[in-house]
Amino acid sequence: MLILSIESSCDDTSVALLDCSKKGCFVISEKTASQIDIHKKYGGVVPEIAGRMHAEKIIPLVEEVLDSPLEGGKGGVRKPDVITVTSGPGLITGLLVGVETAKTLSYIWNIPLVAVNHIEGHIHSVEIPNPKSKIRNSGQKTSCELQVKNSKIQYPAIALIASGGHTELIYMKKQGQYKIIGSTLDDAAGECFDKTAKMLNLPYPGGPQISKLAEFGNPQAIKFPRPMLNDKNYNFSFAGLKTSALYWLKNHTDNTLNFHLSPFTLNDFCASFEQAIIDVLAGKTIRAVEKFKPKTIILAGGVSANKKLRETLAQQIKEKSPFTFFLSPFTSYCMDNATMIGVAGYYKAKEKKFTSWKKIKANPNWRLA
Ligand code: KG4
Ligand code: ZN
Repeated sequence: MLILSIESSCDDTSVALLDCSKKGCFVISEKTASQIDIHKKYGGVVPEIAGRMHAEKIIPLVEEVLDSPLEGGKGGVRKPDVITVTSGPGLITGLLVGVETAKTLSYIWNIPLVAVNHIEGHIHSVEIPNPKSKIRNSGQKTSCELQVKNSKIQYPAIALIASGGHTELIYMKKQGQYKIIGSTLDDAAGECFDKTAKMLNLPYPGGPQISKLAEFGNPQAIKFPRPMLNDKNYNFSFAGLKTSALYWLKNHTDNTLNFHLSPFTLNDFCASFEQAIIDVLAGKTIRAVEKFKPKTIILAGGVSANKKLRETLAQQIKEKSPFTFFLSPFTSYCMDNATMIGVAGYYKAKEKKFTSWKKIKANPNWRLA
């Protein structure tokens, strides 16, 4: 099944072409136009600008992806069998562009359309094949010759999705059946990283900036709170941590954010702050693992690119074997991308869970369950 996939829910316009079968999904091509350099100037995503940028980029990306070589290096625009598109949750200005594009193509090509929930996409990002595990038989590089050792989610599964817009713990009894067992009561983990980075005058998105600085700091230096860590539920709250970071900076640095008044460095601040977020994310996930005893634990979403979070959770889960820990094979698939939407959409396409182009709607508040 040849799938054309579209993702435009935030600040990445992403289009992918996948060749999916029972063996899994092969990525033939994926092209993503990031808007980070534009939004950086404003310290965060500006919805109006995001919508305009998606509208400018989407058709050239669709053309480029459809034109990529499939067999024997031959190019040529070809018609896919199915279109998958993120139709929520996310920014309405971005979602509309993706959904309207998918809808138009579905109508003119007369091919079915699958509406995919963005979170479902992040969950399935862990099944995107890792090219390192590709075995090339011989000769030319064609998608058919590439054998991929696929990682399939075993159910029941628990997923921690941590991104700029979401922090959720999801229990999946079986494929396609979702139960949100915990979520953030205020800011998402990525949002907390980004807002705190902004206080430090670091560029957007702040998560990677803080984690880079954290590598050279002492995570035990500053005692930041671990909100809700000991509450007997699976919910999160990061707004208080952000405020506590703000007050710490007010009390320990001067108005040019110079740390010379403090015994600690900027690196110590970042390491301690990052550790507080990791302790809460990992602690709540382990609590869920102990209760639900899943076969697979998934860590996905932009924050899952955080090296220390990946290592911490991997280590804590190892201590509780026999659970399997699944991560996106490379950090670029932790971020928003059209490939993960195609992989999630393939499961729905197999079951003929299509949405007619007449009915599909961009829904910025679409809840998975
Ligand atoms: O999933 P994503 O690309 O977009 C949303 O759906 O929100 O996630 C983006 C978020 C941003 O908040 C960014 O700061 C965060 O992921 N992020 C990180 C790291 N890389 C990206 N947070 C912490 N450490 C990182 N290395
Ligand atoms: Zn996302």
